[in-house]
Amino acid sequence: YSDHYLKGKKVLITAGPTEEAIDPVRFITNHSSGKMGYALAKMAKRAGAEVTLISGPVSLTPPFDVHKIFIHSAKELLKEVQTCYQDQDMILMAAAVADYASVKIADQKIKKRDQKMQLELIKNPDILAWLGEHKENHQILCGFAMETEHLLENAAAKCEKKHCDMLAANHLLTPGAGFQSDTNIMTLITPEGYEELPLMSKDAVAEEILKRLYRISQKSTR
Ligand code: PMT
Repeated sequence: YSDHYLKGKKVLITAGPTEEAIDPVRFITNHSSGKMGYALAKMAKRAGAEVTLISGPVSLTPPFDVHKIFIHSAKELLKEVQTCYQDQDMILMAAAVADYASVKIADQKIKKRDQKMQLELIKNPDILAWLGEHKENHQILCGFAMETEHLLENAAAKCEKKHCDMLAANHLLTPGAGFQSDTNIMTLITPEGYEELPLMSKDAVAEEILKRLYRISQKSTR
């Protein structure tokens, strides 16, 4: 690989959690820190790509000189992805998108009343699945998967179902992997098979992922 192996490529990366509002003071979210997605943005930029980073609310400083778009909800993320996906050569969905949102967003703070209360949820759009259905053949799509059991089976099924060129899976319960830490342990799944990466910094994992996607893109344009 040359130092700038992604020169001339447009790379879209989503990062961080989504926040699904319940009322003006409360929301549903998850533990994603954005570190994995921001590492991908940094390493893609370093490799010469033109990078667009769509980020949920995180406390990280985004890399310099990438297009930055900030969102809260999965619906906002879908809208931004739909606006810019067509120009992209590679799309990496590292964001931890909430699967469900509150059916109603109350205008006022919900008052404390009965001992029990119920919150009705509705499925969010599946952005990765949408991309899998709409992407052109030359566009490389990489999904991510956070699993707590049967990592390989579940992730391989997601890869196929969502028409991904690659799916990077991490195990939530393995120390040093997944949310928040500066390291990750990933299994990279393609239609051809899978490869387990050792414990590495998120920057190093990001580089490995990007290099493999580049290789896949070279094959698909030949
Ligand atoms: O941010 P960090 O603290 O560094 O943690 C990194 C990470 C654990 C968040 C990251 O490595 C990761 O695994 N991201 C994906 C987490 C996730 O949402 O996994 P999932 O198995 O629920 O979703 C599978 C894929 O579908 C993901 O690419 C996700 O972006 C996408 N998805 C999910 C739901 C939805 N409604 N729309 C989606 O597009």
